[in-house]
Amino acid sequence: MEHPLAHTPATERPKILVTHRLFEEPRAKLAEYFDAEFWADSDRPQRSEVMRRVADKDGLICLLTEKIDDELLAAAPRLRIVANVAVGFDNIDLEACARRKVAVTNTPGVLDETTADFAWTLLMAVARRLIEGDAMARSGAWRGWNLDQLCGADVWGKTLGIIGFGRIGRAVARRAGGFGMRVLYNDQARAPREIEDELRAEYAGRDELLRQADFVSLHVPLLADTHGLMGPRELALMKPSAFLINTSRGPVVQEAALVAALEKKQIAGAALDVFEREPQISHGLLRPNVVLAPHLASASVETRTRMAMMAVDNIVAFFAGQRPTNLVNAAV
Ligand code: DGY
Repeated sequence: MEHPLAHTPATERPKILVTHRLFEEPRAKLAEYFDAEFWADSDRPQRSEVMRRVADKDGLICLLTEKIDDELLAAAPRLRIVANVAVGFDNIDLEACARRKVAVTNTPGVLDETTADFAWTLLMAVARRLIEGDAMARSGAWRGWNLDQLCGADVWGKTLGIIGFGRIGRAVARRAGGFGMRVLYNDQARAPREIEDELRAEYAGRDELLRQADFVSLHVPLLADTHGLMGPRELALMKPSAFLINTSRGPVVQEAALVAALEKKQIAGAALDVFEREPQISHGLLRPNVVLAPHLASASVETRTRMAMMAVDNIVAFFAGQRPTNLVNAAV
C-alpha cells in the first residue's frame, strides 16, 4: 500500500527531528516521506539545543541519552511521537507522554543476540584478564611466559547466574551451553518448562542465585523495583571468587556499594557496560579487576542499523495512520 505521504509536497510533510547521526538506509527512508532535520555532530546536542529544535516538530527520533520529560514535551506542542532508538525507555517519562498524548516506541528484539554476545565478551574478558594482558603486551612490559602470569578464573564448567530472564537473558543462557556451565536464573516469574529444558536453566531465588553463581549477569530493565537491585546486601551474598557483569542499566547496581565490595574483596571483579551517571564512571571502578566499556553492548553495525531502521519504521507507520509495531504506551 502506498504511504499517504508519498505525494505530499515537501513543505507539508510532518517535521521530524533526529537527535543523532543516522545510518544511510534509515536516513534515506525517513527523507522519502518527511521533512527531517538531523543532528550531524559527533558531539551529542545540548538539551537546550534539542528543546529549541524540537519546538516545531511533529516527531522525534532520539537516543537513550535524551531525557524526554514534561519540560521537553511542553517545549514541543506539535509533537505526536517519540521513537527511541533503544529497547530500554527509562529516559522517557511515559506518564507525561500519556498526558500530552504523545506516542512512544522502542526497538525490542533486534539487539538481543548482539547484547548477549557482548555480555559474554565482558564475562570472558574479566575472567581471563584480557585487558590486563593486552596492556602488558602493548606496553613492552611482557618479559616472556611465566607459570603464574595473569592467571584468571576458568569459565567452563562454572555456574552462571542470570538475573532477568527475558529475551536477552535467555540468549546469554543459550551461549552457556557451549561452556558446559550450570545456568541459574531469576526473574519475577518462572519461565515455561520448555524454555528451562531447552536452555538447561534452573530457576533460583535471587539470594540463592547470588550465593551460588560464579558469574552474575544482569538483564533486567530499569524500573522502580530494579533500581539499586544490586546493593551492599546482594554483593555481600556473592562468592569472593565471583564476578558481576552488567549490560542492563547502570542504576540497577549501586555503584558506591560495588566499589566498596571490590575494595573489600567481597567479589573477584566486575565487567560493566553501563554506569549510574553515564558518561561519568566512579573513580573507584578504575581498577585492574574491573573491565569497563562505554555502553557498547548493542554496538554492531548490523544491529545499530536495524535499531535505527525500526525507529524509522515506527514513525513511518504512525504518520500513515497505523499502529506502530513497537508502541510502548498503547493507551495513547
Ligand atoms: C538499549 O537498547 O536499551 C541499549 O541500552 C542500547 O542498545
